[in-house]
Amino acid sequence: MTHIRKLRVLPQTTPLHGTITVPGDKSISHRAVMFAALAEGTSHIRRWLPAGDTLATLAAMRALGVVVTVDEAESAAWNLTVAGRGLDGLQPPDQPLDCRNAGTCMRLLAGIMAGQAFASVLDGTPQLRNRPMRRIIQPLQQMGADITSSDDKAPLTIRPAQLEGIAYRLPVASAQVKSAVLLAGLYAKGATHVIEPGPARDHTERMLAAMNADIIRRDDTIILAPHRSLWPLHVTIPADISSAAFPLVAAAIVPHSEIVVTGIGRNPTRTGILDILAMMGAEFSVTNEIETGGEPAADVACRFSELHSAAISGDVVVRAIDEFPILTVAATQAAGVTTVRDAAELRVKEVDRISILAGELRKMGVTMVEHADGYTVQGPIRLRGAEVDSHDDHRLGMALAVAALIADRPTTILQANCIADSFPGFVETMQTLGATMQWEE
Ligand code: S3P
Repeated sequence: MTHIRKLRVLPQTTPLHGTITVPGDKSISHRAVMFAALAEGTSHIRRWLPAGDTLATLAAMRALGVVVTVDEAESAAWNLTVAGRGLDGLQPPDQPLDCRNAGTCMRLLAGIMAGQAFASVLDGTPQLRNRPMRRIIQPLQQMGADITSSDDKAPLTIRPAQLEGIAYRLPVASAQVKSAVLLAGLYAKGATHVIEPGPARDHTERMLAAMNADIIRRDDTIILAPHRSLWPLHVTIPADISSAAFPLVAAAIVPHSEIVVTGIGRNPTRTGILDILAMMGAEFSVTNEIETGGEPAADVACRFSELHSAAISGDVVVRAIDEFPILTVAATQAAGVTTVRDAAELRVKEVDRISILAGELRKMGVTMVEHADGYTVQGPIRLRGAEVDSHDDHRLGMALAVAALIADRPTTILQANCIADSFPGFVETMQTLGATMQWEE
């Protein structure tokens, strides 16, 4: 446990400039190590993200008997070699699997554990114990899974049971729920159908298809047939668009800035941030488009521009769901009233990202008016430097650090070390661009 707790950020007096890369995609990194463990043969995963959340998944797979060799090629980009154990080769863990703060780790692992011939317990931090698990418990039980919990919250105890394929209509667009059902479906009798209400990220479907799973999409329905042995993975993980969002928005709001972030994943289920920034008048360009590990990627350049407000609702919300903390910082600099609707899911993320963000940005002079499923923000506002708190939410911590760049005096972010849950090296990356941020204590 690190003792570094506070991050101090000075108002930015010069433009941000430079070309950077950001660490690998968190969603894809979780999946790569989990699915490689289930393959027949050895997988090679390049530029894997060693962040707090994904390291929980790596430790869990090791606790299930999977041998993973790590080459720490760069501090924030590891190369993994995973000796797959096959769908039925995992070993019983001798203690609860600790998912730490990571919802993706817990919800996807629950789908895999439901199909095992041994019992397991999934647990995590008090923050994760507070998040809703009914959304996976209910469909997995419908498939026949034996899961017990108290109040539909972690810890979850999962015992062996014969699973059946079901047709499940997701009540909310959620990649974690979709993935839990599909992964359990690998172990079921009969096919599993998942019907989606909106475009939740599809990394699970892409990766399982590349690994020889019998999975297809028909319109809004994903159909998976069970028990086909999985091929090993050979992938280079694209940079995380959800991490790139912080320097990109910083460049859009700090006068005269111009930056490039290389190799960003551009899966269409994840690019809502770029669509929303374009609606707000941000100037950026996309070059060097490539495909890596079955996922599109490209370099994205962004420069300072006068932003205007936007009305954000519908499918784009799902495609930008993790970016609302930083998009709200952009909205504080946009002329007019930005409205966000259809975003009730923000209330069940690492924290209630509507009310906590409203509370912290209020300290910096922002008025966010809350609704059950969204909020409004009036811009542009001259932000005040303040002492604010991440509430142990990595994306809130980074959004507040970017807001601090355009504040009138220095800002201190408390509990900022959680930034490493998704973006190790965030502070150094921002320093490379010319920002003045430093850790205190
Ligand atoms: C994720 C899915 C999303 C997202 C989360 C990562 C994933 O959550 O917010 O950060 O890797 O599947 P939901 O499935 O709850 O929408």
